[in-house]
Amino acid sequence: MTTSSDNVVTAVAHTNIALIKYWGKRDANLIIPYTGSLSLTLDQFYTETSVNFDQNLDRDEVSIDDQSAANNSWQRVHDFLEIVREKSGTHLNAKVVSHNHVPTAAGLASSASAFAALAAAASKAAGMNLNNQELSILARRGSGSACRSIFGGFVEWQRGTDDADSYAVPINTPHLNDIRVVALTIEKHQKPISSRRGMALSVTTSPYYPTWVKVVESDLQSIKSAINQDDFTRFGTISELNAMRMHALTLSSDPDFLYFNGRTLDAMNEVKRLRHSGVECYYTIDAGPNVKVICQTKNVKEITTTFSKLFGPDKVTVAQPGPGIKYL
Ligand code: PMV
Repeated sequence: MTTSSDNVVTAVAHTNIALIKYWGKRDANLIIPYTGSLSLTLDQFYTETSVNFDQNLDRDEVSIDDQSAANNSWQRVHDFLEIVREKSGTHLNAKVVSHNHVPTAAGLASSASAFAALAAAASKAAGMNLNNQELSILARRGSGSACRSIFGGFVEWQRGTDDADSYAVPINTPHLNDIRVVALTIEKHQKPISSRRGMALSVTTSPYYPTWVKVVESDLQSIKSAINQDDFTRFGTISELNAMRMHALTLSSDPDFLYFNGRTLDAMNEVKRLRHSGVECYYTIDAGPNVKVICQTKNVKEITTTFSKLFGPDKVTVAQPGPGIKYL
């Protein structure tokens, strides 16, 4: 148990982009998903978080990007620290200092990298010595997608059925290593419907939800075999399809909702135009209007030039596979 105030632990976690999406919780408290998912950890976007459990604190103190955390963010961090306190046996409050490293106005600050870094720093600061599987389980309790950011490169979240067997595993492969993700950060505003609320609406009201659960299992098998066979065309095709299948759940919810805006559609059309003209690329979109373009190194220049003209160069960031969790 930690009692001193000199035990600051700092961890860095990179964000990840899901290629087979997680969309729906079987258990909202433990964050156990209905389906597995698969992602790529990205080098360009990351969160650095320091945690110190300190007997001199009356309550948890949380600073995010040099500002005291707003109530809802503070509550989420506090709830997560309660889990760490329960597991570690410490009763001390913590000071949490977190910085998101994302391109200017990116709007990409991600709960995935945030909770992965917090899980690593807080558990270690509380005296726990978790391995990466245990860290993935803990990070999952903060935000589902965070369990994948413990690992680098391609990562599969095996859905499991309870707290102990729902965690991510790295897919160690020499294949598709020239893959690049061109992130188009066309909108920096907060999404109107959080992924948490959006998922719950889709699960409870979309008549297509049971079909989604079946389809994801086969999309997962297909993308893993595409990775194994180093087949970029199949890999990209399945990624794009799966993203659109996820967004179909938002349109078919009651009430319906949509994460795209006009510029999202412009970007999607441009990806299709590029593809038809022989520049192979595919899109994927999460719970917001920003678009990520999946391509190979050889086409990065053409794609970034095209989107820089369309949206401005400051909106275009090229990412490559990034590393797993690190302590500083
Ligand atoms: O981990 P959350 O609650 O932020 O949900 C992530 C949801 C998606 O980004 C849309 C999909 C995914 O698998 O990351």
